[in-house]
Amino acid sequence: MNMKRYGVKVYIKTFGCQMNVYDSEIMAGLLLVKGYEIAEDMNEADIILLNTCSIRKKAEDKVYSQLGVLKKLKEKNPDLILGVGGCMAQREGKEIFKRVSSVDLIFGTQQICNLPTILNKVMQERKKVMVIEEERIGPEEVKAYRKDKAKAYVAIMRGCNNHCTYCVVPSARGRQRSRISKGIIREIENLAKEGYKEVTLLGQNVTAYGKDLGGIDFADLLERINEIEGIEKIRFITSHPKDMSDRLIRTLPRLSKVCEDLHLPVQSGSNRILKDMNRGYTREAYLKIIGKIRSLIPRTSVTTDIIVGFPGEREEDFVDTLSLMEEVRFASAYMFKYSSRPGTPTERMLDQIPEETKLKRLHKVIDLQRAISK
Ligand code: SAH
Ligand code: SF4
Ligand code: F3S
Repeated sequence: MNMKRYGVKVYIKTFGCQMNVYDSEIMAGLLLVKGYEIAEDMNEADIILLNTCSIRKKAEDKVYSQLGVLKKLKEKNPDLILGVGGCMAQREGKEIFKRVSSVDLIFGTQQICNLPTILNKVMQERKKVMVIEEERIGPEEVKAYRKDKAKAYVAIMRGCNNHCTYCVVPSARGRQRSRISKGIIREIENLAKEGYKEVTLLGQNVTAYGKDLGGIDFADLLERINEIEGIEKIRFITSHPKDMSDRLIRTLPRLSKVCEDLHLPVQSGSNRILKDMNRGYTREAYLKIIGKIRSLIPRTSVTTDIIVGFPGEREEDFVDTLSLMEEVRFASAYMFKYSSRPGTPTERMLDQIPEETKLKRLHKVIDLQRAISK
């Protein structure tokens, strides 16, 4: 059904990471093709969709508080349609209907392609719909609707095959699915033709690109993208230390367009904690990678993610994180208090760290990083 003659306006609000930003651009692209209009103001919308994040409890709290606001909006305008998609929709499912009765539809992270069909159903049948099945087929050939006209996000893979014990992403996003390289190249070539100069390649673990396909790997893919005329800068997030192969490290300095910034989450400086996190590398292995990168690409600026207060983190483990930060001297860091997530292996670990200790440690890493960044 084409919505053009009905003038239906959709407002999409995005929470979470760059992958969600891109997914929202894909949703908008799909809906535009079907004749919907994209609203710039929530108050003008006939349909409001929240693309949600589940990574920490705080992220989910934010969504619920937004839903509280929307509930009031809906009381004023009962025809308003409220939808919840993304990682939290995938994980919470009908729990969201239970907690917020004004929500009309829930769609999972692998249901983006079906969004127009799902919306039709909600509007025609006037009943609640939830679709969170895993599809595995990505929105490969959909033209994303991007507001930025110079820099673009492009997903090269979705999902994650790692099992970091604190993380909800594998359950929210499913198993790793790399996009076929031809489709990625075509999308970036088209972006270049439209005048885009910079692309950021997205994936929960870009350095594992292709491992599920068995064809070209991430280094090969970068090499091909580097040849695309018109593109001047290539960025990528997120890399995993475990998959930073020597071949990849040696390839990077040869590729003129690949940006020298590298985001390489370390999470902790303690081997004992890294093991419990199931990160698949040691402190020493991480430092070795940094050493190699800095000797081959001296201008590299390395940024990272750090979690403090992981269950069982003793004072000496925390000190190991501080000393690693001093040793590496990250350009900047995203620092988080461990947040216990439902369904993850660490949720029920007995040695949870008290909130005040977590907070103290968080302040310490933030202060240290601030001093280093200066
Ligand atoms: N795929 C990326 C990061 C995904 S989430 C990677 O593996 O590096 C982004 C960051 O959120 C993670 O690097 C981690 O530092 C943080 N994070 C993930 N789960 C968390 C949790 N349960 N509590 C606190 N921080 C968490
Ligand atoms: Fe989560 Fe680990 Fe996968 Fe990153 S690599 S998304 S932290 S499971
Ligand atoms: Fe959040 Fe999902 Fe991204 S949990 S960080 S939106 S992959």
